[in-house]
Amino acid sequence: MPATHPRRILVTSALPYANGHIHLGHLVEYIQTDIFVRFQKLRGQRAIYLCADDTHGTAIMIRAKAEGRSEQELIAAMREAHLADFADFQIAFDHYGSTDSPANRRLCGEIWQSLRRRGLVTSRDVTQLFDPVAGVFLADRFVRGRCPRCDAADQYGDSCEQCGATYSPADLVDPRSTLSGAKPEERSAEHLFVTLEAMHGFLDEWTRASGALDPRVANYLIGHFLGEPLRDWDISRPAPYFGFEIPDAPGHYWYVWFDAPIGYLAATSEWCAAHGESFDAWWRRGGTNEPPAEIHHFIGKDITYFHTLFWPAMLEAAELSLPTRVRIHGFLTVNGQKMSKSRGTFLLARTYLDHLDPGMLRYYYAAKLSGGIDDIDLNLPEFAAKVNADLVGKVVNLASRTARWLEKTGLSARYPDDGGLFAHAAADGTEIAAAYEACDFARAMRAIMLAADRANLYVDTEQPWKLAKAGPEAAAKLQDVATVAINLFRQLAVYLAPVLPKFATQVGELVGGPIGSWEQSQQPLTAAPVGTFIPLMRRVEAAQLEALLSQSSEQSRETSPGVPAVESQPSAQPSPATDRPGDSGDALAAEPLAPTCTIDDFAKVDLRVARIIMAEEVPEAKKLLKLTISLGGDVTRTVFAGIKGFHAPEALVGRLVVVVANLAPRQMKFGLSEGMVVAASGAGAQGVYLLSPDSGALPGMRLH
Ligand code: 2FM
Ligand code: ZN
Repeated sequence: MPATHPRRILVTSALPYANGHIHLGHLVEYIQTDIFVRFQKLRGQRAIYLCADDTHGTAIMIRAKAEGRSEQELIAAMREAHLADFADFQIAFDHYGSTDSPANRRLCGEIWQSLRRRGLVTSRDVTQLFDPVAGVFLADRFVRGRCPRCDAADQYGDSCEQCGATYSPADLVDPRSTLSGAKPEERSAEHLFVTLEAMHGFLDEWTRASGALDPRVANYLIGHFLGEPLRDWDISRPAPYFGFEIPDAPGHYWYVWFDAPIGYLAATSEWCAAHGESFDAWWRRGGTNEPPAEIHHFIGKDITYFHTLFWPAMLEAAELSLPTRVRIHGFLTVNGQKMSKSRGTFLLARTYLDHLDPGMLRYYYAAKLSGGIDDIDLNLPEFAAKVNADLVGKVVNLASRTARWLEKTGLSARYPDDGGLFAHAAADGTEIAAAYEACDFARAMRAIMLAADRANLYVDTEQPWKLAKAGPEAAAKLQDVATVAINLFRQLAVYLAPVLPKFATQVGELVGGPIGSWEQSQQPLTAAPVGTFIPLMRRVEAAQLEALLSQSSEQSRETSPGVPAVESQPSAQPSPATDRPGDSGDALAAEPLAPTCTIDDFAKVDLRVARIIMAEEVPEAKKLLKLTISLGGDVTRTVFAGIKGFHAPEALVGRLVVVVANLAPRQMKFGLSEGMVVAASGAGAQGVYLLSPDSGALPGMRLH
């Protein structure tokens, strides 16, 4: 713990592009970084969390054009949306800038001059495809044509989704610009390059010896880049380009990946100006008498070499401080697969917020993040099970079972004998802090939940509800038991504060005042008033997850296929098999298998894929929703389904289900039911679960 000299820690997350909304994949990184920074602050360190929108480049220029507004209008609107999403996920930046700022332009100029002074800039002509109608050079993803290897139609400019071939856009057969449909032309233009090879020795040394990189990352760089001469880095783009024009090379613009990391410096500069701090003290080598500031960059694995080759080279050329640590995480998969619009698993931050508590995702990610580079999987059933078991069942439950006994009396005047529970968890603080420091949040969460288990066992054993019934002679004992439980609860809240800041604030309001220091986990409270307990978190229900997926599918269908609205995630490896919580034998035991039927028996039942096109309440019916389903074309049916209470009608519209399509129509009190929607239910869970086909299935398809 800092006594006199807190560490100064500058922390960044990768700057999100201003041409798309924040999604749950982005949030892995922002939540991870935010937890790290909040932990450092809780420990008394001087940490600052800086970020900015990444605003330049072709994609933004083209999107603005397609939407009929200026780039500035587009980036201003996106900034507002990003800031709202971050604030609602309790991501607390100390400063959030923009790469399209005067500070960034100035700092780009300074770094550029350093590169020039060292003779690291060269130029030569580059041939690229050009759209003669739109008047722009085309990045690979804006060209489509037939694969030169397998002849598959409509493939991207750099790779074929059919046969996996990679090639240059000029090799495509019958290439077309996706912007105008025009046939692109090859055009040559001068580009400026940074001669990275001149920095090879420095980069080699930094990679091997600085300690900034996980050894696996260092080995990857050594194996893939540093073992041979480094290629020149193409650092400019010819007009038209949305970015900063290079002052000493009119008509040339810095490539977005040049000015983006400089955005870290610009954000620091703006934060310093607003807080009376010195930029040099944070970034300039020997810029202060204090020990140098630490610089931690959190990034995804797809942008490793920008941060471990180009960026250190730029900093070295400008004689600025090098990163203390580049912390690299994997991608997010959802239910074991890459996020997908067609599966409805491309989950936007805002869509999640419409249905679920942000603290739950923060906790779930924390429980999955161990500081490594592996992908993490958001498995939705597991998410619900974990949040319900840990946060609701263990943590919140501790207070919901005990706080009310203290509303009138407050905490006992002396901390009672708790059999060493508080001291045990206080001692765990060292291990928990070490895990947070290493970004092994999964380890920290496990230790915290073990402490929660011990606390709940204490309550189970002491049975305060029995003491409450026992009358006045048990009142002192009741107060003591509840005092122990509430102290253990608050201790957990201190440990969880980096992950669950809002929850920690609410716990502070219930008892003991604001939580702002790790030290508060080390001493129990006595004689303090206790407020009225309100449930701080409710269970996640299956219907909420369904509504989330259903809204996401709806949004994906609405997104225009032309210009990508959201920057696509680089392809992720599916992660290893996920846990299968709740796979007990209860459901099967409660309803044993039916007698064998023949294939002919089965064939009598005509099961079809159908799309729900309307879903309405049936006010007089307790269990029924009235569904209008489409079997494709004009064929629709009305079906009354016993799923009311488990599915919100509006969340069902658009989703695919399975129906028994040849069931004899049945006249019901509320109308004619012309089929049956298939759903699962049974022992082990209380819901009614609709079945959905894999993506790609269409209404009318038969199940065989
Ligand atoms: O990959 C991306 O989303 C980039 N916008 C990250 C930029 S990080 C930094 F270098 F600015
Ligand atoms: Zn191909």
